[in-house]
Amino acid sequence: MTVLELDNVTGGYGETEILHGISLKVDPGEIVVIIGPNGAGKSTAMKSVFGLLNLHGGRVMLDDEDITNTPPEKVVRKGVCYVPQTGNIFPNLSVHENLEMGAYVRRDDFSGRLDDIYQIFPPLVEKRNQPAGTLSGGQRQMVAMGKALMLEPKILLLDEPSAGLSPKYRGEIFKVVRDINEAGTPILMVEQNAKQALGIADRGYILVDGQNRLDDTGKKLLANKEVAEMFLGGGSVPAKKTAARKTKPKARAKARGKSKQ
Ligand SMILES: Nc1ncnc2c1ncn2[C@@H]1O[C@H](COP(=O)(O)OP(=O)(O)OP(=O)(O)O)[C@@H](O)[C@H]1O
Ligand SMILES: [Mg+2]
Repeated sequence: MTVLELDNVTGGYGETEILHGISLKVDPGEIVVIIGPNGAGKSTAMKSVFGLLNLHGGRVMLDDEDITNTPPEKVVRKGVCYVPQTGNIFPNLSVHENLEMGAYVRRDDFSGRLDDIYQIFPPLVEKRNQPAGTLSGGQRQMVAMGKALMLEPKILLLDEPSAGLSPKYRGEIFKVVRDINEAGTPILMVEQNAKQALGIADRGYILVDGQNRLDDTGKKLLANKEVAEMFLGGGSVPAKKTAARKTKPKARAKARGKSKQ
């Protein structure tokens, strides 16, 4: 069963059509990456999942449920969490308060989940009482992801999680994305750092001008000449030299098996 699917989605803002029939899907256990030039409609495609768009056609499916045009708060309650490109933390609240805010729709005891989040993001432990706005870019991104993960989502949507980060933090964020995925959460991620993103992705979609241009496995897209010319700074990247995942760790395979039952 597919976790999330955009089926021929057409729409935009007001009268302006930005997405001209976008289709993509995320299966259980997958990391799926969306790549494309600025203004291609990548963020807009993500917003379409949250009923934030004027849809002219197509459908958005979560598991087997049609969630087209469902308002954002309901989509969140259904288990889709989204970390937007900007404005994804409360800068004046402490790290801990940000994480608690992430659990705002939970009525149960979420203290165990808070512990999990600190385990996923160890650098946040000693910053827990610090205003989130004072953290480094990489750590702020960890807070934003941690906040989203408080709801133990069925799927996590990340819009350019590595944007503006130094290479060191970028590497850390990609590692964390993999860790989150290996612990069982499927991920749909928009990224500009195509090489690193495709390196950890099961599959990727190239969007251009609000349309699907190419889709394939992360490995094949990395080796694709057109992709290399457009996004990897020219020249194709031999697949074996890429950072593509070597083996599927056990937890990942298990998560996959579980969600297929
Ligand atoms: N709230 C909005 N109202 C009107 N037009 C918008 C809005 N948000 C985005 N657009 C327009 O929609 C188009 C696609 O924007 P979108 O943000 O989806 O692109 P993107 O692929 O995410 O680009 P980037 O790589 O710069 O993040 C652009 O032409 C943009 O100007
Ligand atoms: Mg964007």
